[in-house]
Amino acid sequence: MADISFLLNGETVHLGDVPPTRTLLDWLREDRGLTGTKEGCNEGDCGACTVMITDDGGARALNACILFLPQLHGKAVRTVEGISGPKGALHPVQEAMIAHHGSQCGFCTPGFVVSMATAHLNGRTDHDDQLAGNLCRCTGYAPIIRAAKAAESTPVPDWMRDMPPGTDTISDENCFMPRSSDALAAWYAENPDGTLIAGATDVGLWVTKSLRDLAPVAFLGGVRDLRQTEIDGDTIRFGAALSMAEVLPTLYEHHPSYGELVRRYGSDQVRQAATIGGNIANGSPIGDNPPALIALGATLHLRKSDSRRSMPIEEFFIDYGKQDRTPGEFVEGVSLPKTAPNLRCYKLSKRFDQDISAVCGCFNVTVENDTVRSARIAFGGMAGIPKRASHVEAALIGQPWTESTIDAAVPRFAEDFTPLSDMRASAEYRLATAQNMLRRYFLERCGTATDVLKVAP
Ligand SMILES: Cc1cc2nc3c(=O)[nH]c(=O)nc-3n(C[C@H](O)[C@H](O)[C@H](O)COP(=O)(O)OP(=O)(O)OC[C@H]3O[C@@H](n4cnc5c(N)ncnc54)[C@H](O)[C@@H]3O)c2cc1C
Ligand code: FES
Ligand code: FES
Repeated sequence: MADISFLLNGETVHLGDVPPTRTLLDWLREDRGLTGTKEGCNEGDCGACTVMITDDGGARALNACILFLPQLHGKAVRTVEGISGPKGALHPVQEAMIAHHGSQCGFCTPGFVVSMATAHLNGRTDHDDQLAGNLCRCTGYAPIIRAAKAAESTPVPDWMRDMPPGTDTISDENCFMPRSSDALAAWYAENPDGTLIAGATDVGLWVTKSLRDLAPVAFLGGVRDLRQTEIDGDTIRFGAALSMAEVLPTLYEHHPSYGELVRRYGSDQVRQAATIGGNIANGSPIGDNPPALIALGATLHLRKSDSRRSMPIEEFFIDYGKQDRTPGEFVEGVSLPKTAPNLRCYKLSKRFDQDISAVCGCFNVTVENDTVRSARIAFGGMAGIPKRASHVEAALIGQPWTESTIDAAVPRFAEDFTPLSDMRASAEYRLATAQNMLRRYFLERCGTATDVLKVAP
């Protein structure tokens, strides 16, 4: 149980004895009667529960269904009820939604309005990206996008500028919110069976879907030294608790193809929460960061109490559900080279946005004097772990960079991978698409336009 305080639509709220994994959505609807925030999927997929959270890093749209109450401590929350003004004055995005017929049945509308008002506050005009996590069954989206555009140049209402109170630490038997990685290391060494919660985009579902009791828990969101990006010489080091939205600008600058992969990671609400450390630590075979990081030759940094160790990231993934991490040990960060001009990342999913990869292939092949000098090729969705295509790499290295070398390498995929069939893709489809990704990579490196979303002249 934890004692927390935060701003809710401009008013201070103090809560005592909060169960550490009570969701904001449940609390808003059940305890506060703020039923404007809707429950659709209860797993981060639909955006019906979108709220705006402001802290010292600014305002973000997040999904309340996978946000735990202690994560709000010291922050400001604005629900759809707080998007209109104190005397009922409509927010410019609400006016625009009415004017452009952006609502039909209305179930999705509160979530859209909160996402749009957050984007409006932040001056964002990338509406397709910003709204990809809000699903609407009725409008076909065009009227909503028109409304978002129409509101772009209107002034931000004063009431939207929340001043979050800031926090002290929370420390009780079942809920710990450390401010430093030293404090986290000490807690985890003493509570090796406890649960670390970073962005809660996985852990949230353990609660809302599997009804698991996780205590004791430690929240990583306030650990400032795990939220640093360091660029030193040729190396970038990301702290484990940086969100996908926070790493995105650095990736775009240094590894644009990896950045493009991350732009399609979940939705804005998910990227604002999910951390790079959580995406590695959970050991998912379909996480998007591991294949890119393996192809880059990244190094993973782990810490347990006061001892630290580092390893090539691919060695972390031992088997399905099994990683090289001992009880009480956590991911501190990951280092990657600053430059890798040949890196390309391809994500295949049923839906372009807001969908987990069926296959994610990342390629980093160096060619000198028309001969392949080195190759790092890694896949997600092709095995029980994110894994290198070592036979394919071996078939390329030392060979001329030609189509016949690619033809000879393609059959080697079957030696590297025995993919599963599941609801995302059949084994045959996975194998065929992985092979085609190598062909695509070759064509792209030869200067052929391969982006299926852009029509080449
Ligand atoms: C709607 C939706 C869409 C998604 N789309 C994608 C997608 O497109 N691509 C993709 O790859 N994933 C996707 N995911 C999955 C999810 O975002 C990731 O797995 C996420 O990165 C987990 O990070 P987190 O910070 O939210 O971790 P949490 O849920 O907080 O934790 C996940 C696991 O990692 C552990 N953990 C967290 N941080 C650390 C640490 N520093 N050290 C040790 N252990 C730690 C936790 O204890 C837990 O076991 C999606 C999820 C949702 C809900
Ligand atoms: S209810 Fe669907 S994202 Fe929260
Ligand atoms: S208006 Fe009906 S779901 Fe969007």
